[in-house]
Amino acid sequence: MAKRKLECVDAGSEYCPCFLAETGECITCSHLQGKQFCDCNWRGVCIFQEYAWAGYRSRGTRGSYEAELVDKKEISPDTFVIKLKVTRTMSRELDNPGAYVFLRGKERPGFFDVPMSVMTVNTVKNEIDVAMQVAGAKTKALQDINDRIIVRGPYWNGILGQRYLKCIKGGNCLVIARGIGQAPAAQVVRTLHKHNNRVKILADPGKVGAVFIKDYIGETCCEIEELDIISKQGLTVINKYLKYEDYDLIFSGGSDKQHLYILREIDNSRGNPFLVVTNNSQICCGEGICGSCSTRIESGVKVKACKVQLDVRKAIERRILNG
Ligand code: FES
Repeated sequence: MAKRKLECVDAGSEYCPCFLAETGECITCSHLQGKQFCDCNWRGVCIFQEYAWAGYRSRGTRGSYEAELVDKKEISPDTFVIKLKVTRTMSRELDNPGAYVFLRGKERPGFFDVPMSVMTVNTVKNEIDVAMQVAGAKTKALQDINDRIIVRGPYWNGILGQRYLKCIKGGNCLVIARGIGQAPAAQVVRTLHKHNNRVKILADPGKVGAVFIKDYIGETCCEIEELDIISKQGLTVINKYLKYEDYDLIFSGGSDKQHLYILREIDNSRGNPFLVVTNNSQICCGEGICGSCSTRIESGVKVKACKVQLDVRKAIERRILNG
């Protein structure tokens, strides 16, 4: 079987080539995988050339900054939205669907870093909004902070299927978001709206217990319907929309199980919309180093889901059906 060429979300960015180039594991460049020939599908500036120009070393690494916590708003007893003042460059780089940062308290060691989706970005004031659901040790350690937080970023692979999001213009789109999945969905809605797409939102309070997306999609005029997405009734509603409306793109923000439900509903419908989903891999370092996000793809090769734009359908089916 021919080896699939993988798409690295960082390729061509100021963080490419990264540490993986130094260890001979670059996702895109065959030279930087130890091969003697060029066999990549990258259409930007040659990654090997960049590596040579950088003195045969990785280029810029992402830094950690102390950011001021400007505002904190409680959404429900264990969910809150924090507003952080970040650097100008960081705010611009985070203004993308799928962008996320790592956060931790000032006094905490690096292993307290927890990845959080960026919900909105204000590139004039250099502020970002991040929604956080308190679930374990790392998020509990962030809960009581009211002044400054360590931010590491920017990272971009929080959403799979980004190329569809970027190419769809003037289309009809359905955004389905549940619980904390509303946070990445907010950026998606604004991007779709910017490209003159019609957007309908199906929002489920989920474990968060509130529909908060409407406060973070700016001036976009979308129809928002609240429902329990993974109930029988919710699935009937989704099925009805897919049956009677022609969608060009569907976004699912929530669990892999939710993604699979929606995938099945798409398969049973007459249309063939693009599916874009939240990347639910266990992300720990975000740099392709620790291996916590490793996923096996069809050729048996293990890939780092924090870096690679996986095929949406295969990623969901493999994770859910193969455990
Ligand atoms: S999160 Fe560490 S390798 Fe992907």
